[in-house]
Formats: sequence, C-alpha cells, structure tokens
Amino acid sequence: MVAVAILAAGRGTRMKSDLPKVLHQLGSCTLVERVLESCVSIQPSRIIVIVGYRGDLVQNSLLDNNNNIDNDNIPTLEFVEQTEQLGTGHAIQQLLPYLKEFSEDLLVLNGDVPLLRPETLQELIETHKENKNSATILTANLPNPKGYGRIFCDTNNFVTQIVEDRDCTTAQKQNHRVNAGVYCFNWPALAKILPELKADNDQKEYYLTDVVPLLNPVMAVDVNDYQEIIGINDRKHLATAYQILQMRVKDNWMAAGVTLIDPDSITIDDTVLLQRDVIIEPQTHIRGRTLIGAGSRIGPGSLIENSQIGKNTSVLYSVISDSVVADNTRIGPYAHLRGDSQVGSHCRIGNFVELKKAKVGDRSNAAHLSYLGDASLGEKVNVGAGTITANYDGVKKHQTKIGDRSKTGSNSVLVAPVSLGEDVTVAAGSVVTKNVEDDCLVIARSKQIVRKGWRLKQGDNG
Ligand code: UD1
Ligand code: CA
Repeated sequence: MVAVAILAAGRGTRMKSDLPKVLHQLGSCTLVERVLESCVSIQPSRIIVIVGYRGDLVQNSLLDNNNNIDNDNIPTLEFVEQTEQLGTGHAIQQLLPYLKEFSEDLLVLNGDVPLLRPETLQELIETHKENKNSATILTANLPNPKGYGRIFCDTNNFVTQIVEDRDCTTAQKQNHRVNAGVYCFNWPALAKILPELKADNDQKEYYLTDVVPLLNPVMAVDVNDYQEIIGINDRKHLATAYQILQMRVKDNWMAAGVTLIDPDSITIDDTVLLQRDVIIEPQTHIRGRTLIGAGSRIGPGSLIENSQIGKNTSVLYSVISDSVVADNTRIGPYAHLRGDSQVGSHCRIGNFVELKKAKVGDRSNAAHLSYLGDASLGEKVNVGAGTITANYDGVKKHQTKIGDRSKTGSNSVLVAPVSLGEDVTVAAGSVVTKNVEDDCLVIARSKQIVRKGWRLKQGDNG
C-alpha cells in the first residue's frame, strides 16, 4: 500500500486567473479531480491534498457531493495546509509533522498533471518496490521540453540531478528527458533529508526536485506515452491537454462501434456513455453524464448535456440539457429541451420548440414554434404550431395538463394553471383560461365579424 500526496497549493500565476490553477476545468472535471481519479485504481491507503492558495475553494470543490469523484473507492480525503507557497519541496515539508508515524511509500503527484493513466502509476510503484529505491521518478522524452525540469542520469539509469528549465545552462537545455512531476518516495528516507532543502535557485523556492542528490538510489522510469505527463501551467497547455483527452475519448468510442463524422469538430466528455451504432454528426458536443442509446443519430450542430437519449432517436440542430428522451423520437431541427423535461417514444419535437420541465407522452407531437413549460402532456397529443403554455404569472410558475389525444390549434395560449381533459380540441387562436373536460371542443376567442359592403369613409385613412 502507498499513500498519495497531491500538490495543489500553488496559485498558478501563469494561468492569469482568480481561480486556483488546479480548479480549472479540463472537460467535465477539474485538474485536481483528474489527478485524484488517476490514483484511485492503485488503492492508496491515504490521500493527502496539500492546499494553500484559496485552499478553502479547493477543499470545498473536492468535498462537494456533486463533483466527479468516486468517493466510494477512495479513502477519506485529508487536507494539509501550506500557508505560504514557497515551492514544491516546501509543500512536501508540510507533511513532516503530519506523517510522523508513517513508514510506507509516498506517491507524490503534481495537481497540474491531469492525464496520467492509472497503469503508469502502477508501473512506477512496482519498479520502486522491486528495486527498493529511495525514490523513483516518472520521466519522459519530450519533443519540446521547455518549462520542464531536466533529468540527468548516470549510465545505470540512476538519477543524479534534476535541473529546472529556468536554472538550466544552454547545454543542459539540450536534454529532452524531463521530470513528469510524479514521484514515489520511501517516506522515512525522504522525511530525513527534507529539512536540508535550500532555496538556492532562480525562483528562491524550495524545490522538491533538489532531494535527488540527497537520496540513494533514485531511479527514473520512462512513461510509454509522453502525452500523459503534460503539466498545465498556462491556458495553452490546458487547450493542448483537452485535445489529447478528446483524442483518447473519441478513439475509444470509435473502437467501441460509434461513428463520428468529422471527429475534429465533435467534443465528447469522458463522462458520456454511447451505445453501439450511435452516429455523431459534425459540430456536436456531448457533455456531462449523458447516455445515448443504440442507433441514435445526434447532430449535426447539437449540444447534449446531462441527458439520456433513447435508442434510434434523432437529434438535429438542437440543445438538450438535464432531460430524458425515449426511443424512436425525432428532436429538431432547432428544439431546446431543458430543466428535467421528459419526452416519450415515437414523438416529434422540433422546428423552434422549447420544453422546460415538460413531460410529453408517447406518440405526441409538438412540431412547430411552441413553448411548453411546467406542462404534462398525455399520449398522442398534437400541439399545434405556435401553442404556448403561459406558465408564469409574474410571481409563480403554474402547471398545464393536456390529456391523451387532445389537440391544440395554431397559436393557442394555455394560461396556467389549466387542465385539458382527453380528446379535447382547442380552436386556433384560443386563449384558454379555464379547465376543459374530456371530449370537448373549446373556442376561446372573439367571434369573426364580417360586414358585407363595408368601406372606409373618405378621410378615415389619414
Ligand atoms: C514542476 C517540477 C518540474 C517538473 C514539472 C512537471 C519542481 C521544482 N519542478 O515544475 O521539475 O518538470 O513540475 O509538471 O517541483 N505547488 C504547491 N506549493 C508550492 C508550489 C507548487 O503545492 O509552493 C503545486 C502546484 O499547485 C502544482 C505543483 O505543485 O500543482 C507544481 O508546481 P508548478 O509551480 O507548476 O511547478 P513546475 O514549474 O511546473
Ligand atoms: Ca506545473
């Protein structure tokens, strides 16, 4: 068993942000959530998060029940404060009083290295244990190593020194082998030498990397895929990491039987689930906890967020959030479903139709220019073009109910609270303010007046 320490106290000056760096979003998760996620499968005995700059924000976000952390599979998070951010070595020094009795290995993760694969960490720990190292460091050969600490090894792959990019000589900068910011330490060995660190460098900080010459043996382990170790220091890195993540996610779904037409124009959060033979068309974005059922076609031009879409359903140029759509239904073009809406099977919702907290029964249609808010529609209902549920009286929202097989004529307004029974027909242009029983025609508009031979008098037209 190992304990994990996550370095999350830094401000992240290069992000130029009010938000602590580790709380920036990378897809559906924050950076630090991703770092946590990467170590879940190694089953750490403890996880300690070192917080500092706006530490309360970081702590609250990690303890928030609505975040993406799988709390059932990790030990209760522990937080240690680094009040002044004097460097990564200083951050780990804060653990000294806290881990006095601790005698196992400590895996140290940078809170801004979010794309590590669990297998990589597993491998690092295994190598560490097999070789009984004092420290084992994850390294990579980068095509562009700018900004990373460079690793120097002797002929037996033992690390002799890590030099930060800014402290490197021109010759040292030619070395493309970098420190990933991921380390496995024998804690008692590290604890012994941690107090000896000096802030003798360009930044006047206590570098964790300076423990290397003080420990023995220190081994380097190269990562298989260098893209895993990208560290996020600025917004450009964040964008690059997002692209890498997207590539991973999309490759997985294509391998699992999903068609992506023009993958570069599509984004899919890694929290999304897609069944076989789903087709995603260009300019489509699928986010959060979304499930798309087998054979459905999404897009072009759609955004689906925290929603469930059934099987063989199509969504064209539409936005769906926090809603559920059943099988064999057609959504769009240009529909907006939100606020816990539920649409049944074999329905058609589209051509500028908005649903908010609306329940639509099977085989019902709202095909043109409607707003259905706080409404509950039965089965086989036909909502005429331009039908509006007037659900808001300026203070409160009210419910509209429409029974099975009822039809609303074009441009009708249903003033809530109001309930239409089953098999009701609402005449076009009606403003319905009172409940209507089953099997009725309701006409709620002024009668048409026709005056034969009527003409404007001279001068009346201005
Ligand atoms: C660090 C490494 C560098 C490595 C790179 C990999 C050091 C000295 N350098 O550099 O060798 O190549 O990561 O990405 O460690 N933090 C604290 N407290 C502090 C300072 C930082 O908790 O006082 C945290 C930050 O929140 C961040 C992490 O430590 O999550 C790394 O800090 P950062 O300043 O980004 O280090 P780098 O310059 O990237
Ligand atoms: Ca960094």
